[in-house]
Amino acid sequence: MSEYGRQRLQKILAQAGYGSRRACEELIRQGRVRVNGQVVTQLGTQADPRQDVIEVDGRRVRLPETHTYILLHKLAGVMTTRHDPHAKRTVMHLIQGVTAPVFPVGRLDADTTGALLLTDDGELAYRLTHPRYGVPKTYLAEVRGEVREQALRALREGIMLEDGLTAPAQVEVVRYQPERQTTLLRITIHEGRKRQVKRMCQAAGHPVVRLHRERFGPLTLRDLPPGAWRHLTTEEVAALKRAVGLSP
Ligand code: URA
Repeated sequence: MSEYGRQRLQKILAQAGYGSRRACEELIRQGRVRVNGQVVTQLGTQADPRQDVIEVDGRRVRLPETHTYILLHKLAGVMTTRHDPHAKRTVMHLIQGVTAPVFPVGRLDADTTGALLLTDDGELAYRLTHPRYGVPKTYLAEVRGEVREQALRALREGIMLEDGLTAPAQVEVVRYQPERQTTLLRITIHEGRKRQVKRMCQAAGHPVVRLHRERFGPLTLRDLPPGAWRHLTTEEVAALKRAVGLSP
């Protein structure tokens, strides 16, 4: 979790790399530790590393940054927004109990389901949504009609939308569903324009009936049930960072 809150000084110092708790207690006893300018020698003293200025031998103590990374299996009918007085249900309602100030990275339409990352890591979020990094996003799109080669080629090579030509995309037919007269497509795009997949499919003559995001960069839902969320693993966070040129 990203929140430190108030903790015993020796614990904070140990987290910041000043040695074992025992060694850090010794630093405190020796009068080498200050909190907000005051020398502290009392071992039980608590401080908040986010708010208090803690020093050892006059040098500011810095904790390694810790952030919260959450993957949500978004349900349909839920808005991707942090605050919206008019929205009955937002993704924030689905992650109740998370105390860190996370926000959604990018946006899924209200009726789109699937993988949505939420974090309080602003730098990572910025990069993940910046077109320069071209983070791939894979969708399962159920579209009207039977999709033929010509439409597939257009989707793959680029389609002219009102905000310009789309970048090349990977598109494969999962299956045609004659009973529903729809085709299931797997589409990977490297941009994140508003309603992009729906607009691409519409322009190719196959309106989207249902849209689900299977993959966001290196992240997949795995067995996360609809409406549930989980913390990312350390490996997943590292993979996300690598994907946008940040060192894990
Ligand atoms: N493309 C869309 O059209 N909608 C989404 O929610 C995501 C991608």
